[in-house]
Amino acid sequence: MRMPSPRWLPRTLFARLAAILCIGLVAAQGASFWLTMMERDMSTSNMMVNYIEREVVSSVALLDRLPPAERPQWLPRLARRTYRFVLGPGVTGPQPEGALSVRIAASIAGGLGAAYPATSNAVPGDGEHFQVHFKLSDGAPVTIDVQPVADLPLSRWLPRVLAVELLVLAVCCWFAVRLTTRPLDQLARAADTLGPDLKAERVPEDGPSEVARAAKAFNAMQDRIALYMKERIQVLAAISHDLQTPITRMRLRLDVMDDSAEHARLRQDLMEMETLVKEGVTYARTLHGATEAPCRIDPDALLDSLVCDYVDAGKQVQLQGRADAMFVTRPQAFRRILGNLVDNALKFAGAAEIEVASIADGRLQVAVLDRGPGIPEDLLDAVFEPFYRLESSRNRDTGGTGLGLAIARRLAEAMDAELSLQNRPGGGLEAKLIVREAA
Ligand SMILES: Nc1ncnc2c1ncn2[C@@H]1O[C@H](COP(=O)(O)OP(=O)(O)OP(=O)(O)O)[C@@H](O)[C@H]1O
Ligand SMILES: [Mg+2]
Repeated sequence: MRMPSPRWLPRTLFARLAAILCIGLVAAQGASFWLTMMERDMSTSNMMVNYIEREVVSSVALLDRLPPAERPQWLPRLARRTYRFVLGPGVTGPQPEGALSVRIAASIAGGLGAAYPATSNAVPGDGEHFQVHFKLSDGAPVTIDVQPVADLPLSRWLPRVLAVELLVLAVCCWFAVRLTTRPLDQLARAADTLGPDLKAERVPEDGPSEVARAAKAFNAMQDRIALYMKERIQVLAAISHDLQTPITRMRLRLDVMDDSAEHARLRQDLMEMETLVKEGVTYARTLHGATEAPCRIDPDALLDSLVCDYVDAGKQVQLQGRADAMFVTRPQAFRRILGNLVDNALKFAGAAEIEVASIADGRLQVAVLDRGPGIPEDLLDAVFEPFYRLESSRNRDTGGTGLGLAIARRLAEAMDAELSLQNRPGGGLEAKLIVREAA
C-alpha cells in the first residue's frame, strides 16, 4: 500500500528537489569547512609547540652563559608572543590541565633535557596559563611564563567568500531543478488537454535526450489513441451499415405477415434496434470530434426553422425571445444539441419552450424548458452518462437509448459551449446551453 506524503513535505516536486539539493550542498559545504578549520588548528598548534621548544632551548643556553648581572636586560629580547622568561622561582599551583598546556610543558621539559630538570604548574585565572620552573647551572631559579593561544583569527573575507559560494550553489540548484521539472509540467499540460477530440497540442520533441524521449513517447501514444478511435468508429460504422440490410429485410418480411399483437411488438423492437444503431454511430462520431467548421449564422432563423419542423409534425414547441445578431458557431452541432433537448422535453413533458436571450459578451444563451417530472437533484449529472436512463423512463412509451444527453454534452464540449440541467421552481426541467462565439 502506498503511504500518503507527510504534511511537512513541500507540495511541489520543484520545492522538494530544491530543498534536498540545497540542504545536501549546505551540509557538505559546512562539513568541509569544519574539516579544513580542524586541520588548520592542528597544524598551527604543532608548529607552535615545535617553535616554542627550539626557541626556549636556545634562550636557556644563552641565559646560562651570561653573567647573572646581565641576565635581566636580556629578558625582554627573549620574550615571545606566547611566553616570557622571569628570573625567580615564580608561583606555585596545580598541574596544568589544558591539552595544549600539557603538550607545550612536556615539549619544553623534553627540550631542556636532563641538564635542566624542569617542573610545571598552572596559574589559576582566565584561559590557559602555566609556568615552567628550572635552575640554571649556577643554581639561579628561572621561570618561563606561558600563555598559549591556539587559534589563529579568521580572515575577514572568509565569511563573505562563503556566502558568495552558497549563493552560487543556490542559483545552480534552482536552475537544475527547473530544468528537470519544466518538461514534466509540459507533459502534464499536454495530457490534460488530450480530450475526447484528440486535438491536444504536440509536446516539443527537443531538449535533453530523456525529455525528448518522453515527449516522443507521449506524441506516439497520442497518435496511437487517435488511430484506435478511428478504427473503432470505422468498425461501428461498418456494423451499423451491415445491420441496416437485415433490419430492412426483417421489416419487409413483417409487412407481409398477418397483423397481430406479436407483429406490432416486433415492429417496435425493430425500430428501437434501428435508432440504437444510428445513435451509437453518432455518439462515436461526436467522441472522435468529427466537427464541422464554424460559420456565421442567424440564430433566430435557425431556431425558427427548428421550431417550425416540430410544429409541422404536430408537436407543441414554442419559441420566446430573440438573439438579434449574427453569430459564428457550428450550426449542425448547435441544432443537434437543441434537437436532443427538445426531444427530451417532448418525450417526458409533452411540450417544450425554447427561450433565447439576446447575445452579450459574445455569448448566446438558449434554454429549453418543460413542465414535466424533472430529474432528481442527485442524478442531474448522471443523466449525461451514455446509456443512462432514469428508472421511470424505462418503459415503452418513452423508449430511447439514453444517448441523447451524452451526445449533446460531447457536442457542446467540442464547440466550447456549456450545457447544464436544473429543475425549475414549480416543476419541470430547464436545460441551459451557453455558446461562446467561435474565433
Ligand atoms: N426533460 C426531461 N424531463 C425529465 N427527465 C429527463 C428529461 N430529459 C432527460 N431526462 C432523463 O434523462 C435520461 C437521459 O436522457 P437522454 O436524452 O440521454 O436519453 P433518452 O432520452 O432516454 O434516450 P435518447 O435521447 O437516446 O433517445 C432520460 O432517460 C430521462 O430519464
Ligand atoms: Mg433523449
